[in-house]
Amino acid sequence: MTTFVLFGGTGDLAKRKIIPALYSAFVNGRLDPEFTFIGAAREALSDDDFRQRVAASIETYAGKANGTKEQLAAFLNLVGYSKIDAKKPEDFENLKARVSADTSKAKLFYLAIGPDIFIPVVEQLSKHGLVEGNARVVVEKPLGRDAKSAKEINSALRTYLNENQIYRIDHYLGKEMVQNLFALRFANSFLEPLWNRKWIQDVQISISEQVGVETRGDFYDKTGALRDMVQNHLLQLVSIVAMEPPVNANPDAIRDEKVKVLRALRKFTADDVSKKTVRGQYRAGAVDGKPVIGYQNEPGVPASSRTETFVAIRAEIDNWRWAGVPFYLRTGKRMASRCAEITINFKPIPYSIFGKGQGPLRSNRLVITLQPEESVQLFMKAKEPGEGIRLSDVALNLDFAEASNLRRVESYERLLLDALHGDLTLFVRDDELGAAWEWIDPIMNAWENDAEGLKSYIAGSWGPAAASYLLAQHGAAWGEEYVEG
Ligand code: BG6
Repeated sequence: MTTFVLFGGTGDLAKRKIIPALYSAFVNGRLDPEFTFIGAAREALSDDDFRQRVAASIETYAGKANGTKEQLAAFLNLVGYSKIDAKKPEDFENLKARVSADTSKAKLFYLAIGPDIFIPVVEQLSKHGLVEGNARVVVEKPLGRDAKSAKEINSALRTYLNENQIYRIDHYLGKEMVQNLFALRFANSFLEPLWNRKWIQDVQISISEQVGVETRGDFYDKTGALRDMVQNHLLQLVSIVAMEPPVNANPDAIRDEKVKVLRALRKFTADDVSKKTVRGQYRAGAVDGKPVIGYQNEPGVPASSRTETFVAIRAEIDNWRWAGVPFYLRTGKRMASRCAEITINFKPIPYSIFGKGQGPLRSNRLVITLQPEESVQLFMKAKEPGEGIRLSDVALNLDFAEASNLRRVESYERLLLDALHGDLTLFVRDDELGAAWEWIDPIMNAWENDAEGLKSYIAGSWGPAAASYLLAQHGAAWGEEYVEG
């Protein structure tokens, strides 16, 4: 028997991601047959009211997981609701009455709520004996605003929970291709000898989005792209691309290696920040041919906002494997296309025997695309068919949609199932979170003292020109900027 309690059960994340993920797990027979799902939020709702909301969320967001009418009815039978105000201990008594008193039965408390009420909720759960035994707590980002506040949240969580009960979610870790990165790196022999400073020129990790801030203007304006995307998703990708082979595949063996990378990231001085980072904010433009408003006109955003919606960084990792190899990181909203991609650019050949007529030879590159499609492409030079020798780029292309028609598991579903099964591998440990914030802090501080450094970019573009210059001054270019020779 498993009980899943979703705090923030009526919120946006619950509606769009968590409930559909849970339903998909149900439809695919991945939930314990004696599963109970309790929504918890401040609104006064009956079980039936909440069931209706669950049904509406499934209808709108479950997509391919939309099972049969019978399956939906069977799922709704597992659903209940408990009104909870973090400040009212009696509400937790009511919740307790709905949860098995047997501490050996699995309980998962998912906190899809603001970080200001994490601790009061966990405190009440603990006071009511709900986190004893086989109980786990999933916490959503943002986990802090800087290293200091993250430390405070972590130590408060640790007052009531053991580290191995805390599941800090980063949904990028649940993406299929992120998992594939482990397979690619550690289940193949040919890449590892090349995966270092001797053969790699630079690494680029770019997550571009076409959406703006949607309905989250107020939250986003207090957060910005550095905290929203770089501190978590981008640095997690850096740590997996750059980590040493772990001694085994256990969660802590993997996380031990990831945290070493985060600690080895060179911390920036204020001067480094001005030379190695670019931040931007979108102004009105067009995305996919449709006009869109500028960031400062978005609902909930002050007209004078200086919050960044775009970041590009030239990071370096001070260790034997990576010394001197730039890691170019980039993310932005309202960009030209939606794409999350990791590009490993190999060094150029030492000398070309093919003569000048061939133009510049772009060096080999391995491109791992996380979305919108899932693929691994190795770009090589080959001769074009026909007379004489003319070289061109060809790709060894592994398209996962074509290669396998097995069911795709969405990242939230994967992570929820891992949390239900007690697998911490794809969750962030407290020291990883701390190390990531410690690298971010100096950047944030320097930006706060440099209001002029914010550039603007047109919605629907690839960001401010300064982001291109960040690479161009080192003879590099973002993937979309290359013109084949
Ligand atoms: C979230 C950010 O963590 O990730 C959002 O808060 C962002 O601002 C989202 O849009 C991107 O996730 P994905 O999976 O759509 O790339």
